Amino acid sequence: MRIFAPPFAVAAVLGLIAASAHAQGAPVQDSGDPPQASLLPPKVMSTEHPDEEAVEPYARSNANAGAAPFEGTALYEAFHGAGGVSRIVDGFVQRNITDPRIMGQFAATDLVRLKRILNEQFCYILGGGCAYTGRDMASSHAQLGSQPADMAAIVENLQAAMRDEGIPFATQNRFLAKLAPMKADVVTR
Ligand code: HEM
Repeated sequence: MRIFAPPFAVAAVLGLIAASAHAQGAPVQDSGDPPQASLLPPKVMSTEHPDEEAVEPYARSNANAGAAPFEGTALYEAFHGAGGVSRIVDGFVQRNITDPRIMGQFAATDLVRLKRILNEQFCYILGGGCAYTGRDMASSHAQLGSQPADMAAIVENLQAAMRDEGIPFATQNRFLAKLAPMKADVVTR
């Protein structure tokens, strides 16, 4: 009969042995770092937004948002203003990071920054008068290797978030029509 021990069980046993060796005063090399910490690059936080990770400097421009805004504030109001946009962004991001089709691409993402910048982008495009301070679509997606199917998943997740906010289908589509041409910049494979 073959005895199967999953790797975590082996690791747990090794951990116990190491712990007991330590307790008995056996020499244990101590780097002073918490376990694993030395394997990760140190996080550098932004000075402007201390709860966000710093990003490489880039030129800021509303043009980075990737689409011209709608005239007037009617569409922004139809999205229930800042509160509506914020709820849609939260629902959208939550779906993306739990969607098995695309969640891997968000694994290294600073979600605090992502949500702030998406709020700015949606508000700017919908005519809410916000400034967009994020990166342009091509450079912010260049490393992800997204495919056309990933874009379809993103659109589905955004549709679901807008539906949850009670945005009428035709109103959703007016916004999606602004985002659709960005596919050329975000899909790289
Ligand atoms: C029209 C479609 C899309 C729009 C409007 C959009 C919008 C944005 C915006 C505004 C940012 C933040 C830029 C910044 O940090 O300066 C961002 C980042 C990101 N997007 Fe998208 N995106 C789109 C498509 C996609 C797709 C298809 C994927 C992959 C499934 C994706 C994954 C990501 C990830 C992982 C980040 C964070 C990158 C990082 O960590 O720096 N996006 N997106």
